[in-house]
This record gives sequence, C-alpha cells and structure tokens, in this order.
Amino acid sequence: MALCLFAAISCAPKEETMKQLSDRVFALAKTQAVLLDSQLTDTTVARTLTSPDGELVTSPITWWCSGFFPGTLWQIYEYSGDKEAEALARKNTLKLSTLLEKHTDHDIGFQLMCSYGNAYRLTKEEQWIPTLLAGAERLAGRFNPVTGVTRSWDPSPWSARWAYPVIIDNMMNLELLTTAARFPGGNPQWVKIAETHAQTTMKNHFREDYSTWHVLDYDPETGEVRKKQTGQGLADDSMWARGEAWALYGYAMMALQTKNPIYRVQAEHIADLLVERLPEDSVPYWDFDAPGEYRDASAAAIMAGGFLKLYSMDNRKVYLETAVKQLRALASPEYLAEAGTNGGFLIKHCVGNKPGNSEIDVPLSYADYYFLEALNLYRGIAGPMK
Ligand code: GLY
Repeated sequence: MALCLFAAISCAPKEETMKQLSDRVFALAKTQAVLLDSQLTDTTVARTLTSPDGELVTSPITWWCSGFFPGTLWQIYEYSGDKEAEALARKNTLKLSTLLEKHTDHDIGFQLMCSYGNAYRLTKEEQWIPTLLAGAERLAGRFNPVTGVTRSWDPSPWSARWAYPVIIDNMMNLELLTTAARFPGGNPQWVKIAETHAQTTMKNHFREDYSTWHVLDYDPETGEVRKKQTGQGLADDSMWARGEAWALYGYAMMALQTKNPIYRVQAEHIADLLVERLPEDSVPYWDFDAPGEYRDASAAAIMAGGFLKLYSMDNRKVYLETAVKQLRALASPEYLAEAGTNGGFLIKHCVGNKPGNSEIDVPLSYADYYFLEALNLYRGIAGPMK
C-alpha cells in the first residue's frame, strides 16, 4: 500500500514552475506581438477582434487603449532583453508622439504611462520625459478643487446625462501625476491632486462592503454627489469586475507611489472582498453579479498586478496565492492563445462593454499588457526564478 502511494506521488506530473511558465508565455508573447505589429499602420493601434477568431479591429491613437500595445512590447523587452521587441516598443511608443496635439481625457494616464512611462522606466533616456510632463499637466487641468476629483469625460451628446462624471478607472491615471511630479520640471502639486482624488474617491465611490460604483456624477458647483451608477456593469448596484480590478490596482499603486498607508488599507479591504467572491480559478465573470455568464480575463490580469503590488507591501500570502492562481489560469489553454491565432493577441475571453454590446468574449490589448506586467512583477517579488 505504502509503495503504491509512493509510486503514485512520484509519477504525478510536476506542476510547471513560474519560471517555466513565464519563459513559455514571454516567448509566445514575442511571436504574437510581431504578428500583431505587422498588421498595423503608422497611425493605427491594436484594439481587439470582431469575434474570437475574427477580423482585427484597430483604432486611432486617441483611443484610450493606445498605450497598451507599446506597453506589451516594453514588458517583453523587460523580461527577455530581446532587441527586436525593444525596437518595436520604441516604434509603437513614438506612434503616440502627436497625442497631446489632439483632444485627450482622463485616459491620458493609461496612454502615456504604458508607453512613454515604461520607455523611461526601462531606458532612463531623457527623451521620454517632456511628453510625460506635458501629459501630467494636461491631466492636472482636469482637476476641480470643488469636487476634489479629476473629471473623466468632457461634455458631449453621449455624456449629457452627467454634470461631472468620474469613473473608478480614473484611479489608474493618477500614476502619471505622481511619476511626472518627480521629474525635473515636475510640479509637486500633481501629487496633491492625485492624493485628493484618491481620498475623495475613497470617501464617495465605495459601498460599505468595499465594492465600487462605476460612475459617480458630481455637482461641479457644490462638490455634492448627484448620481451613483454604472456604465459598463450589469446594474448600478452590481460589482462590475473590471471596475473592481481598477480599484484594487489603483489603491495598491497609490500606496506604493506615496507610501501613505491609508491606500494600502483601502486596497486590502477591496482585495479581501475579491478573495471572498472570486470563482474557483480566480478569473472573474464580467460582473460578479452575473455568475455563469462570460468571464473577463482582462479583469483577472489587472487584479493579479494589484494583488502582487499589495503583497509586496504587506506580505499577506493569500494575495500572492490569488495572483498566482490567476496567472496560472491565464497561462492555460483556456485563456492563452496558440501561436499564430487570436489575431496576434495573447489572451482570449475578455469583455469590454457588455451592456453596450461591444467587445464580448474577445481579446483586448489591456489584458495582454497587464498579464505580462503581472508576470514581471511576480519575478521582481520572487527574485531570480527557478
Ligand atoms: N477604462 C475603460 C474600461 O475599463 O473599459
């Protein structure tokens, strides 16, 4: 009996190590990125596919996701040092060089931090700094001291129902302010703006259980909250998965950026709720209140980064374990594309905007970006991997 048990244990297939998993994923990511790049022009960026195996959908550089493909290339370069990936990262970053000549909104943080921000972080070349400074100045211009938050969308026919809309996603864009404030020529006020936004959001945007509304509408004259709603979730009071992911990552990021522990505590509350409510493989349904419907792999990728950032501060094992579970799920055939498929994207099964009937069960450029970033974060935390 004991012999049988010993034989069964020693013959069981060994689980792939995180090093093996990362080597495999980054090699695939390079192949996919070269394929994706070959389908783009000087003025288009990769957005999604029309359906899981459909046509590539591109967008102009003004689309909120324009920084993610350059960022993906920088993540590949960071992991591997691959020169071709670096050259492609530079080329795709410089595609955004005219962005500030165009109309921008709060997403300037996503757009510039993933492209120019990673370029500076990895190369330390001064050439990337002026655009980051100018972007931060632009974003700071969206702050209203009466509301205490940066505005998301400007008035337009489709946003006419809100006076001063602020979405939880804005938390992510604060990193542009805190990062650029530290550059020569940066403005220390930008950190104050980021902190005020984070604290106002902490006060108004969360329910008692630390789940978050998606869109808040402020009165710009009084600072009062007029409405608490959803844009992309199932219902105003539901838990939209990607909104929760932006909240977790956003507060963990702010804790690391400012060293102010109130943001870490907020991120821990959000993380604990997610740990409680995530399904078995830790890849959430597109809305936590729509169990059994489509998964949103992009939310899992973003959350993994948030959990890892949090773990790097408080060493709570459950956050590391949840992130690893998410990364292992995303690296499995269920979510990871085979080479040459998925239009050149890496991750399958994401949901962009279900109520808007847009981007349902498709790849999305930000799922790829945050997945690779989380693997690099894991390596940074775990040290040299075996
Ligand atoms: N920031 C837009 C989204 O998460 O869909």
